[in-house]
Amino acid sequence: MNQHIKIAVLGGGGRTGQYLVNHLLEKGYSLKILLRNLPISDESSDPFILNLSNPLVEIVTGDAVCFDDIKRLLFDCQAIISTVGQRPGEPMVASSATENILKAMNEYGIHRYILVAGINIDTPFDKKGSQTKAATEWMKNTFPEIHTDRAKSYDLLTKSDVEWTLVRLPMIEYSDEILAAQASIVDCPGAGISTKNIAIFLEEQLSDKTYIRKAPFLYNI
Ligand SMILES: NC(=O)c1ccc[n+]([C@@H]2O[C@H](COP(=O)([O-])OP(=O)(O)OC[C@H]3O[C@@H](n4cnc5c(N)ncnc54)[C@H](OP(=O)(O)O)[C@@H]3O)[C@@H](O)[C@H]2O)c1
Repeated sequence: MNQHIKIAVLGGGGRTGQYLVNHLLEKGYSLKILLRNLPISDESSDPFILNLSNPLVEIVTGDAVCFDDIKRLLFDCQAIISTVGQRPGEPMVASSATENILKAMNEYGIHRYILVAGINIDTPFDKKGSQTKAATEWMKNTFPEIHTDRAKSYDLLTKSDVEWTLVRLPMIEYSDEILAAQASIVDCPGAGISTKNIAIFLEEQLSDKTYIRKAPFLYNI
């Protein structure tokens, strides 16, 4: 089906990333997944653990803040999807990962980069309602370093030549449930989004050009 398309996945071992990996494999893509550590699990029925031994999966052990690791990850890939998230006490990851990815994309001639962030990112196209504005202010005041780092990542994207899509998410609900969902480039009137909806939307962006160089909010309605 899509085996000839190889996707580099970052954050694939995380809570949202596992749904994404499972969904991409259902769709038949070949994957290179960056993991800092291999998951330890006795849960042989866990679909994510089972999928890591899928012949369409290649694990790349490494860190998103290391350019050489990103180069090994992106080699031979046609697109990148990232659900990388900040871990407490670690160096800021969002802008470093984006900087490394953009540089490696440029070296390899890869065009498509799809990533996620929170609804606190501001863009010049926003018409944020009071709920989204309040969430943005809360994030700015509570996690200023993470907020600034995410904004820097957005800035790097807008200055690049690549076909990026930054998907802005409200509270994630970790669920296999497919609910009604909507995307908007101006505001996020929904309070939550299911992980399965995120996985579906991210995969759709591989072929859909609607949100190229845009930062849609995605939410359940
Ligand atoms: N949770 C929410 O409600 C919410 C809302 C809006 C947006 N978001 C965003 O959505 C994304 C996914 O959220 P989540 O809750 O699924 O995140 P998560 O479970 O915390 O997963 C984050 C992933 O990023 C990886 N990671 C972090 N630093 C890394 C590095 N330096 N190199 C390589 N991998 C690294 C982690 O790997 P390790 O296991 O090795 O640490 C993990 O796989 C994040 O960007 C988050 O900010 C979340």
